[in-house]
Amino acid sequence: MPTDAPDTGYAFDTGAADAVPQMHALESFLDPITTGRIAAPILTAGARCWEVGAGGGSIARAMAASVGPAGRVVATDLDLTHLRPAGNLDVRRHDVRREPPPGDAFDLVHARLVLLHLPERRRVLRTLAGVLAPGGWLVVEEFDCTAPLRVLTAPNDDAAKLFAQVTDAMLGILQSHGADLAWAQDVHAALTAAGLTEVDTVTHAQSWPGGSLGASLYATNSRQLEPELLDAGLSSGQLEAFRRLLRDPGFAVMSYQFVSTRGRRAG
Ligand SMILES: C[S@@+](CC[C@H](N)C(=O)[O-])C[C@H]1O[C@@H](n2cnc3c(N)ncnc32)[C@H](O)[C@@H]1O
Repeated sequence: MPTDAPDTGYAFDTGAADAVPQMHALESFLDPITTGRIAAPILTAGARCWEVGAGGGSIARAMAASVGPAGRVVATDLDLTHLRPAGNLDVRRHDVRREPPPGDAFDLVHARLVLLHLPERRRVLRTLAGVLAPGGWLVVEEFDCTAPLRVLTAPNDDAAKLFAQVTDAMLGILQSHGADLAWAQDVHAALTAAGLTEVDTVTHAQSWPGGSLGASLYATNSRQLEPELLDAGLSSGQLEAFRRLLRDPGFAVMSYQFVSTRGRRAG
């Protein structure tokens, strides 16, 4: 995080050049899963939706297309660099930790890979649940970063060790910014405790070969966190070797486990 940045609790600099490939890699992996989870009967024509921490905006745009001209989508984020309003899609700068919600009586509130990073995640989740219309859905999706990242194939023995060393250090940095690496496992209970019904959870993980968009996410994150990785004792040579590995077709690793949980306000 740049030294003059506000205290966001979020470790990645969303204005940096590497933010764009990071968002594309996330969207290409996750959007097919998310769009399935929020599809009809959750998303219907005329629905009112809030996309929290919208990032590159792909899900907000998909929602806007689904709800049609009678519906409305508000996409909020701390950083609007990658978001544009259009038609029934409204875009607002908003800190979900500190500011009141941008409306109420939403039919769908969705937050993907946002609460994980925020120390106030449980309070924020209760706020999101509190702005649902009767019958409205809250969908919270996170990476479970507690499972060891299984290396499936590696060009040599040192490669798996290096991969574990760098990814462990990146997770340590996220934790030092307030991330809870196990939060994905708690979301189901948190939605239930917030009074939501029909709570269900699905998880997804897949192999990411070297050179794939998924594998590039690890490399991009290592560039975004490079100053802190160097402070943590890794060398530039190790980071370069890590990025080479992620382009090597002889290398393959399992993705993080993506955990999608949704629940519904009764009524
Ligand atoms: C990992 S990105 C995920 C983006 C998007 N939800 C997705 O899954 O493609 C996390 C996003 O949360 C935003 N964010 C972080 N802290 C926030 C806060 N306190 N309020 C609103 N947005 C926040 C970041 O700016 C970033 O766009």
